[in-house]
Amino acid sequence: MSSVGWVLHRTLLLKLSKSLCKHTAISRHKSQRRLISTSNRYMTIMPAWVIDKYGNNDVLRFTKNANFPVIHLPNEVIIKVFAAGLNPMDVSMRGGYGAATMSMKRDPLNITKSGSEFPLILGRDVSGVIMECGRDVKYFKETDEVWAAIPPWKQGSLAEFVVTSVNEISHKPKSLSHLEAAAIPYVATTAWSALVNTGGLNKDNCANKRILILGGSGGVGTFAIQMVKAWGAHVTVTCSHNAERFVRELGADHVVDYTAGPVEEPLGALEKFDLILDNIGGDTERWAPGLLKPWSGAKYVTLVTPFVENTDRLGVSDGMMKTAATVATKAIKHLVKGVHYRWGFFAPSGPALDEIRDMVDAGQIRAVVEETFSFSQVPQAFEKVEKGHARGKTVVEISKGGA
Ligand SMILES: NC(=O)c1ccc[n+]([C@@H]2O[C@H](COP(=O)([O-])OP(=O)(O)OC[C@H]3O[C@@H](n4cnc5c(N)ncnc54)[C@H](OP(=O)(O)O)[C@@H]3O)[C@@H](O)[C@H]2O)c1
Repeated sequence: MSSVGWVLHRTLLLKLSKSLCKHTAISRHKSQRRLISTSNRYMTIMPAWVIDKYGNNDVLRFTKNANFPVIHLPNEVIIKVFAAGLNPMDVSMRGGYGAATMSMKRDPLNITKSGSEFPLILGRDVSGVIMECGRDVKYFKETDEVWAAIPPWKQGSLAEFVVTSVNEISHKPKSLSHLEAAAIPYVATTAWSALVNTGGLNKDNCANKRILILGGSGGVGTFAIQMVKAWGAHVTVTCSHNAERFVRELGADHVVDYTAGPVEEPLGALEKFDLILDNIGGDTERWAPGLLKPWSGAKYVTLVTPFVENTDRLGVSDGMMKTAATVATKAIKHLVKGVHYRWGFFAPSGPALDEIRDMVDAGQIRAVVEETFSFSQVPQAFEKVEKGHARGKTVVEISKGGA
């Protein structure tokens, strides 16, 4: 859509929205209900890539008739999407990963029938412009340029518009284009949650700490390297031989090639670490905690946890119980050896993105985009992410449309 077309489109939608609002506000006042909604579900439709069932790339379907997003809560905003970032999580979700867990988040009382999440829009990263604000939104206004990581239980960003909470958005870095900005939020908020919230790191306590990042060349790893390097840490990374130059450019001080043989031996010969971020999981859990400095508060934080699989496979209550028992057993097992064992999770956070934006604008963190696709090429973008071995993020330019 041209910029004039976009302004006209927006003005029309806002007028329509305000008149609908007035109407709903009066009826709500009469019935003494909370004033929470600003736009009408059937106000209009929008282009989006959706899935109607879980499966391989064939389930991706482009439609011009996806439901326009609706503001349900007073702290929500509708964002016009300029660029969307893709992550391995989108490929997994396309195949059904997390279906039961996300349904529980969407519908805790289990009122709707299974399959009600369809048509489902994937895409976690967004960079765009606020089109409409809920009635309690103060810090942001229409036309603000923002970026966000949309939680996986919400409709995603592979669409012309997306709705999300103000708690999850932040003003986008001025130094980045929308395409660059869309490469950062999901991996950044995951790394932030793992390293800061779970690992206890911050810009004031990181200097000279020895950090090991297992799987440093992927999306989360490339962000984590830059973040802890900016805070003064010494960073050791495992990755494949052909990613060595890439991770060194991002700031890695020492690199161990996992394709040359088992890494536990060369890593074991190094000085012990203060924190390990594990992006690989599996066998690493057996030997990696032994690389930490014991009885010093050192932490092993893994992002590869069975939480979602347990809930998907066993249901909410049994899955939760199994998860709690597993993590407690592992935490105690490692605590008696003097190290902390923790699970890290993606956590959407506007305030974290505010701090990350400042680091980006200060030149401490750069966006690493490997390939850009148009809105019509979303299936190709999924193929690219599914192949793996990326040296940067895959982003989709939404604003030009064209599908
Ligand atoms: N818990 C959560 O909420 C959460 C959120 C986000 C992500 N995650 C998990 O975190 C992990 C990382 O995510 P990501 O988005 O960064 O994935 P990614 O982009 O696929 O990166 C993984 C990287 O690991 C490298 N690799 C593969 N095997 C390795 C090994 N044995 N040793 C060292 N490096 C190896 C691969 O690079 P090469 O090309 O060099 O082989 C790949 O680039 C994934 O397991 C993901 O499921 C969890």
